Amino acid sequence: MWDYTDQVMDHFRNPRNVGKIEHPDGVGTVGALACGDALTLMFKLGPDGRIAEVKFQTFGCASAIASSSVLTEMVIGKTVEEAGRITNKQIADALGGLPDQKMHCSVMGREALEAAIHNYRTGETGMRNLDERIVCTCFGVSENEILRITRENGLSSVDEVVNFCKAGGGCGMCRNEIQKLVDGVIAERTQAKTAPGDAPRKLTNLQKIKLIEEIITREIRPALQRDHGDVELVDISGDRVTIAFRGMCAGCHASETTRHSLIEAKLRECVAPEITVVEESRS
Ligand code: FES
Repeated sequence: MWDYTDQVMDHFRNPRNVGKIEHPDGVGTVGALACGDALTLMFKLGPDGRIAEVKFQTFGCASAIASSSVLTEMVIGKTVEEAGRITNKQIADALGGLPDQKMHCSVMGREALEAAIHNYRTGETGMRNLDERIVCTCFGVSENEILRITRENGLSSVDEVVNFCKAGGGCGMCRNEIQKLVDGVIAERTQAKTAPGDAPRKLTNLQKIKLIEEIITREIRPALQRDHGDVELVDISGDRVTIAFRGMCAGCHASETTRHSLIEAKLRECVAPEITVVEESRS
C-alpha cells in the first residue's frame, strides 16, 4: 500500500475538473495505455486571456488522478505563460508530496499541460522536436527531458530518473547513458553551488563567458525551442549579457517576462547574482 498524503487521497476520491471541453483552445495527450498511464488535458481561455476552464481524463493510478486534479486547480486563472512555468515539483508539492516511485505522475501532468499549451500556440498535436535525441526507446524519453527532470528535481541516480519519467525502467539498455547525463548534471550542480560559509565563487572572465554560453545552450534554448522560440547570445560585457530573441519569442508580449524570470534568473542562480540580461534592441 502506498503511503499517500491526505491531499492525494482527497484529489483521488474527489477529482476536480474531470471530463471534456467542447472546442478547447488547447488539448494535449501524453503517456500510453501500454505503460499503464495516459492523460489528456484541455483548457479554454476566458475573455481576459486567462485559463477559465480546464478538464482532464486519465487512465492511471491514484497519484496520476490526484496529480491531474490538483494541476487543473493550479492553472485556472493563470495566463498560458504563467501555466507553462509550472514544474512537476510544484504539482507534487501541492499534493503534500508523492511516493518516490510515483513522481512520474507529476511529470506526466506537467507534460500534458505543455502539450496542451503547444497545441494552443501552434495547432500541432505532437510535442516532440524531431531533432531531439531519444535516450530511452522503451519509454520514448529524450535526452532533454532527462536533463530537465534531473535538474528541476535535484536527482542524483538512475533509479530516481526511473521514478520520475520511467526512462531506464524497461530493458535497461539506456541506463549507462542516463548515468552519464545524471553525472553531468551533478557536476554542473557542484560547480554552481557555493557551500554555506564559503566566500562567493569568483570566476575569471573566460570562465564566466563559457558558463553563460553553456547554460544558454543546454538549459535555456531547449526550453524556448519547445515552444518554437529561441534566443541568441549577442554579447557579454562584465555582468551585462545581451541577448536577441528569435522565432516565436521575437515580438512575443511575454518576452520581457522570459528575459527576466527565465534567462536572467537562471544565469543569476548558476553564474553570478550580479548578472543583468538585456535585449539587443534595448541595450
Ligand atoms: S531503452 Fe530505456 S529501458 Fe529500454
